[in-house]
Amino acid sequence: MKTIVTDIGMLATPQGKGPRKGPEQGNIQILKDAWVLMEDGVIAQVGAGPAPAADEVIDAHGALVTPGLVDAHTHLIFGGWRQNELGLKLHGKTYLEIQNAGGGIQSTTNATRAATEEELTQKAAKALDEMLHFGVTTMEAKSGYGLATQHELKALRVIQNLNDRHPMDIVATFMGAHLVPAEYKADRGAYIRLVCEEMMPKVKEQGIARFCDVFCEADTFTVEESRQVLEAGLKYGLRPKIHADEIEAIGGSQLAGEIGAISAEHLIVCPPEGIASMARGGVVACLLPATSFYLGATFAPARDMINAGVPVAMASDFNPGSCPCLNLQFVINLGCLKYKLTPEEVLTAVTLNAACAIDMADKAGSLEPGKQGDLVIWDAPDLDYICYRMGSNLSKTVIKKGVVVVG
Ligand code: NIG
Ligand code: FE
Repeated sequence: MKTIVTDIGMLATPQGKGPRKGPEQGNIQILKDAWVLMEDGVIAQVGAGPAPAADEVIDAHGALVTPGLVDAHTHLIFGGWRQNELGLKLHGKTYLEIQNAGGGIQSTTNATRAATEEELTQKAAKALDEMLHFGVTTMEAKSGYGLATQHELKALRVIQNLNDRHPMDIVATFMGAHLVPAEYKADRGAYIRLVCEEMMPKVKEQGIARFCDVFCEADTFTVEESRQVLEAGLKYGLRPKIHADEIEAIGGSQLAGEIGAISAEHLIVCPPEGIASMARGGVVACLLPATSFYLGATFAPARDMINAGVPVAMASDFNPGSCPCLNLQFVINLGCLKYKLTPEEVLTAVTLNAACAIDMADKAGSLEPGKQGDLVIWDAPDLDYICYRMGSNLSKTVIKKGVVVVG
């Protein structure tokens, strides 16, 4: 079955299967009057000018077409919400103060433990539908609100089931080390042993996660504890990711480089030595500007990272606490306005580099022969337009593996 998208006013895509860093981050392919030919869901040819014949023709009516967006960092699986924390924030309580008082991740953990697999599935499916409408076709989802073996496995099973039955491609990350839960507060070591010696073997046995993540942060997991968790993950075939330098720079980004993490997340207060370590270790910086916005924090030094040769990806961080937002188009706006990245650099950050951050660049993140036919036809004439407009959903038609799934 051949499907062609024709009359593309502007086709904008990064190219390749590896992360784009330094000046290459902004070096993308732009074609005018273009077309994309797909065969059985896979891109067969991309070109400009007269279009070849196909069984099905989708007319882009002169609009912008990009690869389907890739959201490389979400905490998709959680029970409840935390709107009660808004008032606390407005009265000056900080994120860590709320967490230390038993709110934050612990309160979502209580709600997640109380939820059935079916309830979690239905709730997450609703979020997935919404993300697909915003133009996201591939994403990562973490566990981390179970914090007990049965509930961490429950969350990962939900992700696996959704990946099987929803058009979205979802890759799973095990994040048992998101917080030491209340019942282990007096014995942190015992919780870390539980994560490494009980949860991880089961995760591996069931084959339900590809990555291991840890919240390396003040009052959460120290650098040494984080190293212990990520090294244990490696033994079980889980590639390391790390929440680093979100609130305090305690050494997480340095660890990311040392351990060869596939990506480091947040990096809001990343110091120069952290950037250098990530550059040496070939780590993708996965930046989450909507979280900075929501926490009222500063913004990660994205330009310094690009200058140092660290590939920059951007993601939503969708979660019920620090970022109850799954709109990657808002992240695109923030990438330009707050990181001062160019539209070309931003596009790479939410497509190819994001795909690299979750080891999906062989299938997703760019429009070129051999990759999946995942693309977005925008209600926009060009790339600048989607970076400049704000607050509307400009994604018009979403195509996943050659099939129209939205629009
Ligand atoms: O990425 N920082 C740790 N995890 C999430 C927040 C989790 C929560 O507040 O529920 C984040 O910001
Ligand atoms: Fe996160």
